[in-house]
Amino acid sequence: MKLTEKETMLLQDLKKQEQVCIDKYGQYAGTAGDASLKRLFKEIGSVERNHLNTINNILEGKAISAGSKSKSTKSQSANANQTQTQSAKQTAKQTKMEQNAKSSTTVKAKSKTWENDKFLCNDLLATEKYVSSCYNTSVFECAQPALRNALNHIQKEEQEHGKLLYDYMNTNGMYN
Ligand SMILES: [Fe+2]
Repeated sequence: MKLTEKETMLLQDLKKQEQVCIDKYGQYAGTAGDASLKRLFKEIGSVERNHLNTINNILEGKAISAGSKSKSTKSQSANANQTQTQSAKQTAKQTKMEQNAKSSTTVKAKSKTWENDKFLCNDLLATEKYVSSCYNTSVFECAQPALRNALNHIQKEEQEHGKLLYDYMNTNGMYN
């Protein structure tokens, strides 16, 4: 796919944003106190890595696969994305069940660990919101349908990440 100067510029910016996401999820998985939150961060982080690969492939002029509806057989990367998103959803569900079990017996004290986990979630939620808006702007600025579809698909996944983070926060009394 041949990109216009503007499309290349937008994709370069999205590439930077994806790297920020990968770095944040990676580092935050290391510092989160709750084991299930660590798992959630790792799961989402691996989807962000797929996003970066997709953007890199587009910048290298390779054919777009993710988000493409034109073929019945989905590409490996689209499948991988989907599987990982489902896996992240599964993790969030599991987390919710674990937390529900916990909260029935103990009221989770607002410990330092809880405060830190809340901080990490809030930061990532803000990041997802920002990145999602970057994709939205890019979709409007890009002319080629295949490129628009690919970016739209990634944006949808960023929104899903936001929902997973929100669900965790809500379950753990972090969201007012
Ligand atoms: Fe992403």
